[in-house]
Amino acid sequence: MTDEPRIFSGIRATGDKTLGNYSGGYRQYVATQEQGEAFFCIVDLHSITTPIEPDDLREYTLSGAAMLFATGLDPDRSTVFAQSHVVAHAEAAWLLSAATSFGELRRMTQFKEKSEGQDFVSAGLFTYPVLMAGDILLYQTDIVPIGDDQRQHVELTRDVAERFNQRYGETFTVPRGVYPEEGARIKNLQEPERLMSTTRGAPQGVVRMVDEPDVIRKKFKTAVTDSEREIRHDPEAKPGISNLLEIMSVATGDPVAELERRYDGAGYGRFKEDVGEAVVALLSPIQDRYRELRADERELQRLLAVGAEKARRASEPTLEAMYERMGFVKAEAGRLFGAARPRGL
Ligand code: TYM
Repeated sequence: MTDEPRIFSGIRATGDKTLGNYSGGYRQYVATQEQGEAFFCIVDLHSITTPIEPDDLREYTLSGAAMLFATGLDPDRSTVFAQSHVVAHAEAAWLLSAATSFGELRRMTQFKEKSEGQDFVSAGLFTYPVLMAGDILLYQTDIVPIGDDQRQHVELTRDVAERFNQRYGETFTVPRGVYPEEGARIKNLQEPERLMSTTRGAPQGVVRMVDEPDVIRKKFKTAVTDSEREIRHDPEAKPGISNLLEIMSVATGDPVAELERRYDGAGYGRFKEDVGEAVVALLSPIQDRYRELRADERELQRLLAVGAEKARRASEPTLEAMYERMGFVKAEAGRLFGAARPRGL
């Protein structure tokens, strides 16, 4: 064990990733990998909580890995792996479900949003935050870099960790969510009151990380603003412009206050065009690296296998402690099961 902080975050293997994922996810992963021992997980087990075709799951897992490396994760520094490769995650979720209440899960707004109006709501969609708590707690995580839409899940994770520690003795580090100062909630360009997401909202307002440059430019040109002329950050009164200011800040690294000064009196048309160009400049090199990485499937699988091995080693002591403290009898090799012989021998 070192004194470096442990960092953990996860990203679902579903759909194309958006500028919102970049802002709350990828961008923060790359920044935090410098600060400690970092684990980043493609949470493929989470992906099956809403309907997904098997071929799509395969594709999104590999493209998810390619995007993590394309945005700057360094496989020598960070542990990048697929959740299903480390069985401890599924086991931890079951054990932690004993320390999570039905009432807590019922309050999760993401469950309410995602289940609304659906014919089939899986049990997994309801218990999903327990799996997420396990992801984080297995690594004795100090810091979770994440977007604001996941805040409630991180708070639940903290509550579950504290409850487990109280009941069974100190087992988990209680983690802390880290949210970006600007761009923690990127909104749909057409419906700036709604989170940018591929699952809901006008597709024209969703910027995908793999969108062609001209598609990106067009989406910004047609972004919804307001009937004033002032470029000012005021999410209540001016949700569209405020969202664009935050996106520009994410893309350029310039603070919102400085952008307000720069675009004072510039007019919405020019501002929207500049934001589009800044996003194209941000995403083009990522797209080039992504295409190259995605094309080499063997290399991606090799990198994921290396990550899984490191993640298994890092999570094993915590899972063992969980079993032991909860009172499970250990099945020691050569004892409980030692007398068994394969059938027919
Ligand atoms: P997911 O896959 O939906 O999103 C991945 C990351 O992107 C962030 N994000 C956004 N940030 C800003 N603006 C947006 N419009 C936006 N949309 C998405 C999310 O906050 C997230 O940081 N439950 C998680 C995955 C997960 C996880 C974990 C995360 C599973 N286990 C353990 C951290 C730790 C999810 O569905 O994220």
